[in-house]
Amino acid sequence: MKGIFITFEGIEGCGKTTQAHLLAGYLEEQGYKVLKTREPGGTEISEAVREILLSNDFVKMHPHTEVLLYLASRAQHISDKIKPALEKGMIVISDRFSDSTFVYQCYVRGIDYQIVEEMNSFTTEGISPDITFVLDLEPEEGLRRAVSRNQKHSRKEDRMEKESLEFHQKVREGYLKMAERYPDRIHVISSNRDKTEVQEEIKGIVGRILSQRGFPG
Ligand SMILES: Nc1ncnc2c1ncn2[C@@H]1O[C@H](COP(=O)(O)OP(=O)(O)O)[C@@H](O)[C@H]1O
Ligand SMILES: [Mg+2]
Repeated sequence: MKGIFITFEGIEGCGKTTQAHLLAGYLEEQGYKVLKTREPGGTEISEAVREILLSNDFVKMHPHTEVLLYLASRAQHISDKIKPALEKGMIVISDRFSDSTFVYQCYVRGIDYQIVEEMNSFTTEGISPDITFVLDLEPEEGLRRAVSRNQKHSRKEDRMEKESLEFHQKVREGYLKMAERYPDRIHVISSNRDKTEVQEEIKGIVGRILSQRGFPG
């Protein structure tokens, strides 16, 4: 692939959407062609699947149903948006991607990692991120930020945000384990500070990797 694929990961309220937006704006200012997207979602079909996944009407969803819906949403997202943009040489920035599935569905819900990894590579046609930022934050603070953001937008907590504190602690732990497993790709960034400081660190890492790769090539 000619492009560069960057993903943002981490617990609820850690700042993924904020930082994905800031990075996309910065790279566009630098003259790069950027596609900013999110998961679950990013296409009409995938956004419809997102509605099901995050709906509070479906609290009894079986973990297998859940993982298959996430993958279904991703399959459409890859084929309609991510793959074509990477083939065109764009920088694709996704707010969540495969690591969310490995952490939430495998590490936290306990579904077999190897099975999910195999289904995921079928889903993504082998596409994986070049750079992943895990924004690390205590779950108490993340949930506080998420709740106040939702209040600002008159939004209710979704099915995932309503999970217990222990659930979110396990999610955080799962991300740190993924980062240990893939130290070259995953950068753990402390989000427990001002968003401009977080942004500066991210910009530094992205700038370094783009120039190492001689991007655009
Ligand atoms: N570094 C930060 N310090 C304090 N608040 C932040 C920071 N980054 C983001 N926020 C705020 O926290 C809330 C959650 O951030 P958001 O980007 O929506 O998180 P996520 O997408 O990871 O759930 C938002 O209201 C956002 O403005
Ligand atoms: Mg978000």
